[in-house]
Amino acid sequence: MQHVNIVEVGPRDGLQNEKQTIDLATKLALIQRLADSGLRTIEAGAFVSPQWVPQMADSLAVLQALDLSGPCNYPVLVPNDKGMDAALQAGVREIAVFGAASEAFSQKNINASISASLQRFESVIKRADHAGIRVRGYVSCVVGCPYEGAIAPRKVAEVARALADMGCYEISLGDTIGVGTPNSVTDMLDAVSAQVPMAQLAGHFHDTYGMAIANIHTALQAGIRTFDSSVAGLGGCPYARGASGNVATEDVVYLLHGLGYDTGVDLARLADTSWFIATALGREPGSKYARAVGRREA
Ligand code: HMG
Ligand code: MG
Repeated sequence: MQHVNIVEVGPRDGLQNEKQTIDLATKLALIQRLADSGLRTIEAGAFVSPQWVPQMADSLAVLQALDLSGPCNYPVLVPNDKGMDAALQAGVREIAVFGAASEAFSQKNINASISASLQRFESVIKRADHAGIRVRGYVSCVVGCPYEGAIAPRKVAEVARALADMGCYEISLGDTIGVGTPNSVTDMLDAVSAQVPMAQLAGHFHDTYGMAIANIHTALQAGIRTFDSSVAGLGGCPYARGASGNVATEDVVYLLHGLGYDTGVDLARLADTSWFIATALGREPGSKYARAVGRREA
C-alpha cells in the first residue's frame, strides 16, 4: 500500500486564524490527541511577532511542554533570525520558513519583499543547518493572491526553486486563499515540478471555495505524496472574506483511505479530536466527515 504523509497544521495555521484564543492546556491536549490519532508531523507553533499573530505568542511554552525527541515531529514557523533564536532555545528538530509568490502578500505577511525575505531565510537556514535542524519551505499564493489576483506559475516555480536551492528539504505549495481549481493547480504543478522534483513538493490547500479535495486529488495524480491539512478545518484567512481555513484533515484522510493509500491515521480518533477542539471553540467541526459521523460519547 502506498503511503501519503499528512502534515497536521491545525495547531498553527488553524489556531493562528481563530478569533478566539485557545489556552495553553487546551492547545497541548489538542496536540496530544492529534499524536494519539497517529499523526506524526504536527506543526505546533510559530516564532513570529506576537504583535502580528497574538494566537502564537505561547509557542515557546507549547514547544517546551512537548517531547521533542519522541516519535512525533513538531515543526514551527520561523520568519527571521529572532525567530531562529527562539527555535534554538526551544530545541526544535524542524523549522519552516515561509515566503510567497506574490510581492504584495509577502509585504503584508512578513513586511519584506520576496527578495528581502529570501535573504532573511538564507541566514536562518545556515543557522538551522549548523544546528542540525531540518528546514521546510512554504510558498504562499501559488494560484492566487488577495491583492494581486492570479499568480503566474513561473513566479511560483522561481520562489520554490530558490527555497530548494537554499536547502529546504521540502517545499509546501500554499493555495492560501483557496481559489485554485484542478486546471490552475495542474498548470502550477507543471511549472514547479520542472524546477523542483515532485517528490520534494507538498500540497497545502485551503478550502474557501470547496475545491480543496478536488485539488488534492489532482495533485495526487500528478505525483504529490505529502499534504498539509488542519483538524476540524480550523482557521480561516484574515485576507479573504468568508475563507474557511485549511482543508480538514478528516476529509483528506477519508479521501486517501478510500483511494487505497495508507496514512497511519486512525480516522475515528481523529474525528473525536475534531469534536474536542470544535467544542472548545464553541462550534461544530468544519469537516464534512466529523459532522457526518457525529460526536461519539466520551
Ligand atoms: P517587522 O515589524 O518588520 O519586524 O515584522 P522588525 O524586525 O522590524 O521588528 C519589529 C519588532 O518585532 C521588534 O520588537 C522585534 O524584536 C519584534 P520591538 O523592538 O519593537 O519590541 N520581532 C519579533 N518578535 C518575536 N518573534 C520574531 C520577531 N521578529 C521581530 N520572530 C515579522 C517582521 C516577520 C516579524 C512579522 O511580519 C511577522 O511576525 N510576520 C508573521 C506573520 C505570520 O505569522 N503569518 C502567518 C504565517 S504564513 C501562513 O499562514 C501561510 C502558510 O500557512 C501557507 C499558506 O497557506 O499559504 C504558511
Ligand atoms: Mg496556510
